[in-house]
Amino acid sequence: MDYLGDISIAHAKGGRRGKAVIPSETMRDQIDDLQRRVSKEIEEAGTLAELDEVRIKYLGKKGELTNLLKAVGSLPKEERPEFGAKVNSLREAIETGLREKSGYLDRKALDEKVRREVADVTLPGNLPEIGSLHPITKALREIVQIFYGMGFTVYESREAETDEMNFVKLNLAPGHPARDAQDTLYLTDTTLLRTHTSPGQIRGMLEMEGRLPVRFIVPGRVYRRDPFDASHSPVFHQVEGLVIDRHITFEDLKGCFLEFARGFFGPDTQIRLRPSYFPFTEPSAEIDVSCTICRGRGCQVCSRTGWLELSGAGMVHPRVIRNGGYDPEEVTGFAFGFGLDRAAMLKWGIDDLRVLFENDLRFLTQFEGL
Ligand code: PHE
Repeated sequence: MDYLGDISIAHAKGGRRGKAVIPSETMRDQIDDLQRRVSKEIEEAGTLAELDEVRIKYLGKKGELTNLLKAVGSLPKEERPEFGAKVNSLREAIETGLREKSGYLDRKALDEKVRREVADVTLPGNLPEIGSLHPITKALREIVQIFYGMGFTVYESREAETDEMNFVKLNLAPGHPARDAQDTLYLTDTTLLRTHTSPGQIRGMLEMEGRLPVRFIVPGRVYRRDPFDASHSPVFHQVEGLVIDRHITFEDLKGCFLEFARGFFGPDTQIRLRPSYFPFTEPSAEIDVSCTICRGRGCQVCSRTGWLELSGAGMVHPRVIRNGGYDPEEVTGFAFGFGLDRAAMLKWGIDDLRVLFENDLRFLTQFEGL
């Protein structure tokens, strides 16, 4: 049992009996002892919480110093002033010690917080992410530049078309079997989402009102009742080309398309034409380009043929020329139409069409700065 216990008991007893029984020597020892302990405990308190425990232990309602003060009343009358003053100055010393220590702990906590939250102002800032052009947009811009170089303009036609423009004016009468391959979404009985950019030939010609030469490309979205897989999409893009003038020949088609293919896929690109059929061209051809992956040597992409099918083309059918407001006795022309998505895929070696529509940044950011 420590002195303090004695004091409490003594005080309690004294209080009840109203008798002073503590010898002044004991009191002095107790004050000295308390002073030693409290200053050590204040020093050792590492946190504000611990420091508060010390305060309560000594200065609280039932604290040791509080008890000492009460015990002063139990001393002989003549000794009370001396001890009262001692206890009070000890109290003040404790209060000062606590205040100083808590100030120190406060500063220490703040220092630590500042050190923990320090910002390295020399680190580079967070740059906002800057987008880049979609590969289809990039491809189209390159294509447009190449055709600008050959004197073409860009005619943007419409995506919602009439059956008349999309089919009939292009020699695809109702019931024509070639319509089956181009089923689409009908908006009304007579309007639909265009299945190809070819109706742009008619609209573009009509806008030219007979002036020559007619020389434009029609880039844009087209729609078909197709699945969505590695090589099909119900929405894709085409680039149509149309030239109408006097003395336009099949040679012009070949030369023009070769110029485009070399500009877009590279200067060593070859093209070849195979006979084909389209109701709106006569004669018609499929244009192949030498494989952009193996450069014509034969690989998986070109099924070891060295060639890739790219475009439909041909000499514009006389009836189509007439539907555009021109006289097929006076002028001739050629037209072609190819898939823009496919062209972009072949140019950059993309093997799945879907990545062009899924907006996955892991794919799209690969075209930054290209
Ligand atoms: N419109 C045809 C298609 O979508 C392509 C084409 C255009 C063929 C112009 C010949 C001339 O398949």
